[in-house]
Amino acid sequence: MELRKIAKAFDILSNAYDLISYTMSFGVTIWWRNKLIKESIDNIKSETNYLLDLCSGTGDIAIGIYKKSLNNNIKIIGFDASFGMLLKFKEKSQKKENLIPILGDIAQMPFKDKIFDITTMSFGARSLFEGEKDFNHYLKEIYRTSKKLLNLETSHPKNPIIKLLYYSYLYFVIIILGSIFFPHYNKEYYRTIMSFPNEEKLSDILKKAGYKQVKAKPLFWGMAAIHIAYE
Ligand SMILES: C[S@@+](CC[C@H](N)C(=O)[O-])C[C@H]1O[C@@H](n2cnc3c(N)ncnc32)[C@H](O)[C@@H]1O
Repeated sequence: MELRKIAKAFDILSNAYDLISYTMSFGVTIWWRNKLIKESIDNIKSETNYLLDLCSGTGDIAIGIYKKSLNNNIKIIGFDASFGMLLKFKEKSQKKENLIPILGDIAQMPFKDKIFDITTMSFGARSLFEGEKDFNHYLKEIYRTSKKLLNLETSHPKNPIIKLLYYSYLYFVIIILGSIFFPHYNKEYYRTIMSFPNEEKLSDILKKAGYKQVKAKPLFWGMAAIHIAYE
């Protein structure tokens, strides 16, 4: 989907985004985000100056890391293409100077090479995935600007029974309930989850983008995964 359309869809969704995301996943996505926050904090050092949170949306990851990190000097940039989502980010961050929202496209980021020690991204990668070639273009830009990527994204369980239950749940929640709560984007949202690569495939794609070390940590029997990629 074209970025202008994605940004517009999230602008419309921004006021209700958190509520929809937390309730429709029965809080599971909060737990998954907390895992990413914890992993990120484990990777922050006292000398880490900047952290980039991509597809930051309403800022749960950026704000969570800032609140829990022992490094009070760290500056966290929340980068997103949707102005509406970033307005929510700003509201939730209570004007903390270390939390900086920036509007832009990941395909062309206004940052120097390797300026960020850590980049995080949660539930954003699948918005960037329109086939491997396009996705690789975004990954190259992420690789250029940052030393380490911690990515949380939905995945595909291997166990056929869990897979069937998970896919049925996604269909019910996103296609049926989503048609009531966010009809302008529910089908596209579902498509991005279903077409996103599984954990192993994503590891391969990250290696092809330049990362030499890639570790994957499956969550909830492979319904999601955190990938940690570095040189
Ligand atoms: C599903 S939301 C994820 C928000 C948040 N990280 C979370 O954990 O809920 C995806 C976000 O990615 C942003 N996005 C999609 N494509 C983008 C791009 N090319 N550049 C910057 N942001 C993008 C959207 O505007 C949206 O806010």
